[in-house]
Amino acid sequence: MEFSRPPLVHVKGVPLIKYFAETIGPLQNLTAWPDDLLISTYPKSGTTWMSEIVDMIYQGGKLDKCGRAPIHFRVPFLEFKCPGVPSGLETLEETPAPRLLKTHLPLSLLPQSLLDQKVKVIYIARNAKDVVVSYYNFYNMAKVHPDPGTWDSFLENFMEGKVSYGSWYQHVKEWWELKNTHPVLYLFYEDLKENPKREIKKILEFLGRSLPEETVDFIVHHTSFKKMKENPMTNYTNAPREFMDHSVSPFMRKGTVGDWKNAFTVAQNERFDAHYAKTMKGCEFKFRCEL
Ligand code: A3P
Repeated sequence: MEFSRPPLVHVKGVPLIKYFAETIGPLQNLTAWPDDLLISTYPKSGTTWMSEIVDMIYQGGKLDKCGRAPIHFRVPFLEFKCPGVPSGLETLEETPAPRLLKTHLPLSLLPQSLLDQKVKVIYIARNAKDVVVSYYNFYNMAKVHPDPGTWDSFLENFMEGKVSYGSWYQHVKEWWELKNTHPVLYLFYEDLKENPKREIKKILEFLGRSLPEETVDFIVHHTSFKKMKENPMTNYTNAPREFMDHSVSPFMRKGTVGDWKNAFTVAQNERFDAHYAKTMKGCEFKFRCEL
């Protein structure tokens, strides 16, 4: 099936991929279980990376167990829906406890049960400049999105929150705020890139789990960009080509910090920085755009 790049559909003011918008109603009936773990991110912030890390932790570092299925079956993507592919809710029905769940939803669309059950959340945030470059390439290769247009117009749309899932700025701030009332481990892509072992230890502590040192080292090794890029269970090469066309841009594209420098012109960077300073004014946490 060819996707016609349908326009985004607004749900409670949030622009979403048309098919995903259709799941938001049914998703509100989700019954969360107290031992669920939710991996939440704005798109292109390292969701797949975190999903593989946490599944490896849950499987005690056993590679063969993590190879049981592609990542989107091991970590159901709650609002996912796409013709011809099992939806997130359908995948969830087949998933035994303890479940790992993935979402990109802003809090206004999150099923209430996840909050009521105090489900633990690992949130991973990535600097906006690398996110928007990654997102532009992803829009191009994943044809459930509308046509991204030129890079310049996509950048404008991103700044205005007119891309799928809406405003990055609001997303990173509201999930940060959630920490005040909910068990959220808030991590940064750049920190994970800088020192994955340190960050994996934070995750273990948050989950109340422990693993031998050599298992942690093995997880670091197996979840490196290089390893995940060549692993069919994490690189999405088994997704239908009509849905993701890796010949346009591979899902596992670069996996670096600072790739934005190859895309932003000097003028775009100045405009982005000025808008960023205004929009993120007073924000108590900082992003690193280079290491
Ligand atoms: P790039 O497009 O900048 O390469 P998500 O999983 O949230 O969609 O995020 C995808 C981004 O994370 C892509 O960024 C992808 O390459 C990067 N990524 C995936 N696995 C990674 C890993 N093991 N290490 C570093 N980056 C990774």
